[in-house]
Amino acid sequence: MEVENAKFLQLAEEAARMAGGLIKANFGCHLEVDVMEAHDIKIELDRRTQRLIEGHILERHPGHAIYGEEGISGNQDGEYQWIIDPIDGTVNFFYGIPHFAVSIALRRKGVTQVGVIYDPMKEEMWTACLGGKAYLNGQSVQVSTRSKLSDAILSVGFSKTEESREKGLPLFTRMSREAKKCRMLGSAALDMAYIACGRLDAYIESQISLWDIAAGQLLIECAGGQVELTPHSDDAHKYSIVAKTGNLDLGL
Ligand code: IPD
Ligand code: CA
Repeated sequence: MEVENAKFLQLAEEAARMAGGLIKANFGCHLEVDVMEAHDIKIELDRRTQRLIEGHILERHPGHAIYGEEGISGNQDGEYQWIIDPIDGTVNFFYGIPHFAVSIALRRKGVTQVGVIYDPMKEEMWTACLGGKAYLNGQSVQVSTRSKLSDAILSVGFSKTEESREKGLPLFTRMSREAKKCRMLGSAALDMAYIACGRLDAYIESQISLWDIAAGQLLIECAGGQVELTPHSDDAHKYSIVAKTGNLDLGL
């Protein structure tokens, strides 16, 4: 299993670097918009980047399933399933804010085996394999040791829906008062990568998809933190998430 996971990790890293290269090359360029809607945007580059990642993986493992923000293919109940967010932080990317990432995880029989998050602008690659440590550019990392909310730097996210704003705004207000600082950075994947290496102490969001957080969950767990994922009762593809360092009491 370890040897197999090491190979899959290498594949995920290669795919993330290729994808990151494509995204970075298009940063600041004219972009084709697929859908412009209230509080969100979909761009053609999202789809093209997922196709690049998928192509790299499926060329080597044609029987594996893909569960990505830009499309789902293969048998989702099969043994291997890749969870892909080609550009997490699309709004940042589109408006020229250099804070976004590629997120790729592999699940085997529903259990995440490897996870990578790559920030092509800062050339930061976070990696983890089940049962191992979390790494940033090859150096092992851990969650912070901060345990008091008043010392903590948090990220509260909310998506495009009214419901997520209704939940997120009061929490943001409360945490802004109680934590050291509260942020909303626009990339769930990077929020989680930042927790894994001790930059942030917690990330909370009420409506998130698996592709946003699958790699991040493994990274945080391998770095000594905790991730609580609660599937929505009316939509099994959406979750609420509380991700944090090991000892932090959020008082939720
Ligand atoms: C979004 C980002 C954002 C989070 C949203 C996600 P996208 O992903 O991760 O931080 O708050 O819920 O949908 O659309 O940029 O890939
Ligand atoms: Ca996303």
